[in-house]
Amino acid sequence: MVNVAILGFGTVGSGVAELLTKNGAHIDEKVETPVRLKYILDVRDFPDSPFGNKIVHDFSVIEKDPELDIVVETIGGTSVALDFTTRALCAGKSVVSSNKELVATHGYELIQLAAQEGVSYLFEASVGGGIPILRPLSQCLAANELTEICGILNGTTNYILTRMIHAGLSFDAALAEAQANGYAEKDPTADIEGQDSCRKICILGAIAFGRHIYPDQVPTEGITHVTLADVAYADSCGKKIKLLGRAIRQPDGRVCAYVAPHLLDAANPLAGVEDVFNAITVKGDAIGDVMFYGRGAGKLPTASAVVADVMDAARHIRSRKRMEWGPGGDDVTQSPDGLVCPWYVRARGTADGAHAAFGDVSCLARAGAPCEEVAFLTPPMTRAALNEAMGTLTPETVLRVLV
Ligand code: NDP
Ligand code: HSE
Repeated sequence: MVNVAILGFGTVGSGVAELLTKNGAHIDEKVETPVRLKYILDVRDFPDSPFGNKIVHDFSVIEKDPELDIVVETIGGTSVALDFTTRALCAGKSVVSSNKELVATHGYELIQLAAQEGVSYLFEASVGGGIPILRPLSQCLAANELTEICGILNGTTNYILTRMIHAGLSFDAALAEAQANGYAEKDPTADIEGQDSCRKICILGAIAFGRHIYPDQVPTEGITHVTLADVAYADSCGKKIKLLGRAIRQPDGRVCAYVAPHLLDAANPLAGVEDVFNAITVKGDAIGDVMFYGRGAGKLPTASAVVADVMDAARHIRSRKRMEWGPGGDDVTQSPDGLVCPWYVRARGTADGAHAAFGDVSCLARAGAPCEEVAFLTPPMTRAALNEAMGTLTPETVLRVLV
């Protein structure tokens, strides 16, 4: 018998309880031992829930129970989640987490601690919700020299962009829907300002390139400054706007990682990823390009990944399941400022001003554009060259174009 405790009975935690119960017979058969939900820790009581009798409020009950094997951390954040994770690992319990903020910030030390204690620390659900990506990256693609990871890593922002474009919803209305669907973070600023994607590209980059990448090493831009005018201009040249996280291995071994909205050609497979779906493309020297696609957030898709980790940890109760990388440092990352790409610019100014600044650019058109507005795509250049060339134009939106 393997006993499990869930910390945090919110969207993901309640999905984990539901899935462990609904598919219990199948799970027991696959693990070859009964997997039982013993406790649920939350600050509240849930008297109307079928799991109400499992609620506890004191973590030490879980920590001190010698029969408790696996702790599922679905509280989120880095304060109490770090404390409980550390204490659970020190008490010899494996920990499964969906908490990307904790993994991106403290993953290296928690992995070390798990190794020292001979238990597992697994977090497949921390990136891409229900999409299997961390195991494929660390195991199935292990024979490759990986060179780049690029993906739509946040379900909330992709949902917002989709609803704004296809249903004409305002930003705030689309965000409210994403929150009601259980996709958004407790503080949705982390979604819309890009920090959630940043945490995920840190985790992907660490697995792919072998060193911890901290969120503050990754320049991050969200979608709050992207307007429907930008969407219309992108559409006019056969492109879509998507928030991407990228990690590119440079020739010197450093990783150029950043998060920003991009214009993508409509033919790019990432351009067709809509709604809450996420997609992650990985480039390797043997495999070429490979893409992972699925629901990037939500109760049961995320629980799918968490419960699979619980099953893996249950199968490795006495032999640690490994998921690891090396320490971080100043030598791990490189600024994206040196990356050369075309840029989309929407500015206050004129077509003549755009030609004077950037040469023979073709200007974009949209219905209802004010006469003092100009939008165009530049030739490939660095960010610094772009800023220097701007001349008489006052930029309002500047986005990279993915090539
Ligand atoms: P929720 O806010 O829905 O759930 C968190 C739960 O933990 C709430 O019930 C909360 O109670 C409870 N809680 C807060 N503090 C404590 C505490 N000190 N002790 C015990 N319980 C506590 O979040 P989600 O389920 O959406 O997310 C959980 C984690 O999973 C986060 O790290 C998130 O980033 C990640 N994640 C979420 C996904 C999603 O689709 N929602 C997908 C993938 C990962 P209260 O509500 O009263 O504060
Ligand atoms: N808030 C996150 C998202 C949850 O929208 O992608 C999944 O990690």
